[in-house]
Amino acid sequence: MAGPTCKTKLTTNSKFNKMRKKIVAGNWKMNLNKEASLALVNGISDGLPGLSDMVRVIVAPPFVNIPYIQDASNRNARVEVAAQNMHFAESGAYTGEVAADMLQAIGINTVILGHSERREYFKEDAHLLTKKVEQALEHKMEVIFCFGEKLEDRQGGNHFDIVREQLSDSLFHLNDVDWDNIILAYEPVWAIGTGETASPEQAQEMHAFIRNLIEQHYDDEVADRVSILYGGSVKPANAKEIFSKPDVDGGLIGGASLKTEDFLAIINSI
Ligand code: PGA
Repeated sequence: MAGPTCKTKLTTNSKFNKMRKKIVAGNWKMNLNKEASLALVNGISDGLPGLSDMVRVIVAPPFVNIPYIQDASNRNARVEVAAQNMHFAESGAYTGEVAADMLQAIGINTVILGHSERREYFKEDAHLLTKKVEQALEHKMEVIFCFGEKLEDRQGGNHFDIVREQLSDSLFHLNDVDWDNIILAYEPVWAIGTGETASPEQAQEMHAFIRNLIEQHYDDEVADRVSILYGGSVKPANAKEIFSKPDVDGGLIGGASLKTEDFLAIINSI
């Protein structure tokens, strides 16, 4: 199915205080030890440009480094810290896992869920992700929900269907208010860590499709206020053009978020 153009009114609506924000989030994945990650967060804090209140900067270190990064990010309150994952249960016999309550106890209120690497290597399916989303929302945590099609889906022309399915499986049972705590991250799997980026036009086409879907399932206010990030080989060289698209509200950045200069350059592109 072809992607419809977005009918929503973009950033202006009656709920001015609920206008969607621009977000640049760094997903550090399983990279950087304590020392290296402190150097990175300090570099980001020191180099951060003056930002409008409508822009957020988030970094997501591995669990073990979160407290150090939390402390360091106090140097610049504009750098927020998120977790890369969490478990769906409150507590219990789940060796190696981390619960929502534990994250909140150290001041973490945002979590990335549904990343394609979790789906692929840790076999996280729609059922499991739905439980994780529900657990996070029950704790009033904010979710950066990742989804996106694989190369074969794009080549086969099924990318809109796949994205619709991923969203409806895990999110479309939520109510309007829940959506205040959802950030979407469209990450075509074929563009993650490959150097292959979706063109700004491909990103815009999919983001408009997503916003339109949300409008159909909810209404234009919910659709207008959700931030939709693009992720997949965003670099200083392509960030500005991708971010210039009307339905692209920022990016979830992997590789380029590990280098202070690159991440700052991407923030400067928003
Ligand atoms: P990348 O990763 O920027 O290295 O492609 C993005 C992501 O996986 O979130």
